[in-house]
Amino acid sequence: MSWANAFIELDKAIHDRSSFDCGEAKLNSFLQTQATKHMEVGVSRTMLLPASAPLPNGKYPICAFYTIAPGAISRETLPKALAKKLPCYPVPVFLLAQLAVHSEYHGQGLGKITLIKALEYLFEVNAHMRAYAIIVDCLNDDAEQFYLKFGFEALCEYDGRTRMFIPMKTVAQLFS
Ligand SMILES: CC(C)(COP(=O)(O)OP(=O)(O)OC[C@H]1O[C@@H](n2cnc3c(N)ncnc32)[C@H](O)[C@@H]1OP(=O)(O)O)[C@@H](O)C(=O)NCCC(=O)NCCS
Repeated sequence: MSWANAFIELDKAIHDRSSFDCGEAKLNSFLQTQATKHMEVGVSRTMLLPASAPLPNGKYPICAFYTIAPGAISRETLPKALAKKLPCYPVPVFLLAQLAVHSEYHGQGLGKITLIKALEYLFEVNAHMRAYAIIVDCLNDDAEQFYLKFGFEALCEYDGRTRMFIPMKTVAQLFS
């Protein structure tokens, strides 16, 4: 099945969350049980790429999604050369909290497309409300390798995961 041509906000009335499977139970479960609630209470936003055709139940399968949220880091977690230019109070960042592609579409470039769309979205937000960098907490080594490929750098260990970052200035170079 092919995917639609634009990312849109998750809508549980339209999108079939139950059929999404990226191979990582934590990410499937987030999309199926938490993403909508988190949007309702105002802590994150989930954008997704639906399939171009609906299922017999009338809902559209989800080919890929990303979730973003505001965040903050302490400047001490950054490399010294970057940290010394920053204020002592928490540094605002954007958190790329989740990103996944349905297993059926792995290896077809959709992870790359989804990441670029997430970066582009955050670049647009940054025009209105500035953040220093985009942060991602990697679920496993594969995710780390994936983000390394696209210019993210390891920052620190956080909650048992490798936290990676890309400065907003680097993202801006991609889109301006
Ligand atoms: C990681 C994930 C998003 C990649 O999606 P994908 O559609 O298969 O990736 P793409 O086909 O767009 O690949 C883009 C590039 O990343 C590389 N890549 C993809 N998966 C990779 C992996 N597991 N390890 C290293 N590199 C990887 C590809 O080789 C490709 O490189 P190229 O452009 O030089 O050819 C997908 O495997 C997934 O959803 N995994 C489960 C959820 C997950 O781990 N998400 C990470 C959030 S913490």
